[in-house]
Amino acid sequence: MKFLVIGDVVGRTGRLALQNNLSKIKDQFKIDFTIVNGENSAGGYGITSKIYEEMMNWGVDAVTLGNHAWKKDEIIPYMESNPNHNIIRPLNFPEGSPGQGFKIFTHLNGKRILVCQVHGETFIDLPLDNPFQSIDTKILSIINDHDIDYSFLEVHAEVTSEKNGIAQHYDGKFTAIYGTHVHIPTMDARILDKGTCFQTDIGMTGDYNSVIGMKKDNAIKRMRTKNLTHRLEPAEGEATISGAIITTNPDNNNSIQSIQIGGVLDRNLLS
Ligand SMILES: [Fe+2]
Ligand SMILES: [Fe+2]
Repeated sequence: MKFLVIGDVVGRTGRLALQNNLSKIKDQFKIDFTIVNGENSAGGYGITSKIYEEMMNWGVDAVTLGNHAWKKDEIIPYMESNPNHNIIRPLNFPEGSPGQGFKIFTHLNGKRILVCQVHGETFIDLPLDNPFQSIDTKILSIINDHDIDYSFLEVHAEVTSEKNGIAQHYDGKFTAIYGTHVHIPTMDARILDKGTCFQTDIGMTGDYNSVIGMKKDNAIKRMRTKNLTHRLEPAEGEATISGAIITTNPDNNNSIQSIQIGGVLDRNLLS
């Protein structure tokens, strides 16, 4: 099967790129299942129910979140009144947090796909359970006991070391482990020793002529002056869709390819 994972969609330009290109990408690369990070899709902070439903209509199968999960908090009652929603937040948010940390999907071909997300702790100012402990107690037994064919772990974290530590520790347990949150793609997509597809960070889907998706001028002013009244707003130039394509094979000879389509990082992958 072929899986498409797409990094943090930032603002209107990120959404527009997804709307205009997702079906072309899915056709060209024969994608069976698509996971998109939507934590920055609503004005750079959070996601709304309208945007989530639009993404589903464009052909997304699962939407992951991150530290900005509840910045538009109307998504919380939406999830509660639509219990079959396909939104996944970090599974190590504290006990009692809204939403779900993983979901099992059954593809039309009968294959069972587990999607989960964990949040890194380093340089993150959020109450979080230990990510290793959360994966150990909430995910590993599900993969073993629920007849899961393919499993995806998204590590939403600030530092490359933590992402690599988690990935190396769980190598062989997941089909793919990939990072999000830093909004810049790394060029280390590869297969780890025990067969898990890995990329430290798959980048953002937004305007890279910016400071990680936000308009340059105010982002720089905030850094130079420490004056946080300079508002951060999503940049509005053409977005690059950044992510990865994971191809699985029956003999476990899997592969991962980083993709950048459109905008200033375009690599001419779309014919
Ligand atoms: Fe984030
Ligand atoms: Fe993000």
